[in-house]
Amino acid sequence: MNKTLRAPVIAGNWKMNNTPAQTAGLIAQLKPLISSADSKIVVAVPFIDIPAALEAAKGSNIAIAAQNVHWEERGAFTGEVSAPMLKALGVPYVVVGHSERRQYFGETDVTVQKRVRAALNAGLTVILCVGEVLAERKLGITAEIVRAQTEIALAGVAAEELRRVIIAYEPVWAIGTGETATPEQANEVCAILRGLLARIYSKDAADRAVIQYGGSMNDANAAELLAQPDIDGGLIGGASLAAEKFAVIVNAAG
Ligand code: 13P
Repeated sequence: MNKTLRAPVIAGNWKMNNTPAQTAGLIAQLKPLISSADSKIVVAVPFIDIPAALEAAKGSNIAIAAQNVHWEERGAFTGEVSAPMLKALGVPYVVVGHSERRQYFGETDVTVQKRVRAALNAGLTVILCVGEVLAERKLGITAEIVRAQTEIALAGVAAEELRRVIIAYEPVWAIGTGETATPEQANEVCAILRGLLARIYSKDAADRAVIQYGGSMNDANAAELLAQPDIDGGLIGGASLAAEKFAVIVNAAG
């Protein structure tokens, strides 16, 4: 697999943290620390923080993501935000299918597929999260689980649209636990996902697809994870909330 075909993407998932002013402050802290990075840098912020984040990131190499999106364009869906609404704000990226959405908010593979479809229709780039829970890893069915999650989410996604899909492999047992997958474990699953993309689309599409690892990635372990042949970046939670730590991860990616 040719890693030179892919620019790394380092994304911070700020989850349900920070007010608009705090978000702007964190971006302001981050900007000078990562200004010479070659990787693409994304931060996913709460909906309410998006305008402040866009303003704070203006003129920098930091792109803003939403953390979820509804599949309908408009209507009676209290509390939801649609893809055209995000597009209208100027948000280029959206995280879809995060395990916290699946665990706590009833997200299923089918609703993830609908959200991916809606986001792509609106012209957004999707960061699609997949990953097994601990019981599934212990049963030895990790490959089957992540393949099924990915194949369902990508149902109806055309080859040319795949360029606007980043896949984030996030083993659920590694999220927020301090327990990171070993570089070999993480790479193995990212390679399995790349193989799936080659089967569904083409080897060329698979070689160009960006596949991130997420789950307790931090300033101490990032370099080793990012050096793996099939890991093209990271989706970072806790460690992305400290500007210096996140900058170390960004700069480890080159
Ligand atoms: P942590 O880096 O805090 O484990 O979170 C990972 C994650 O869920 C990113 O989306």
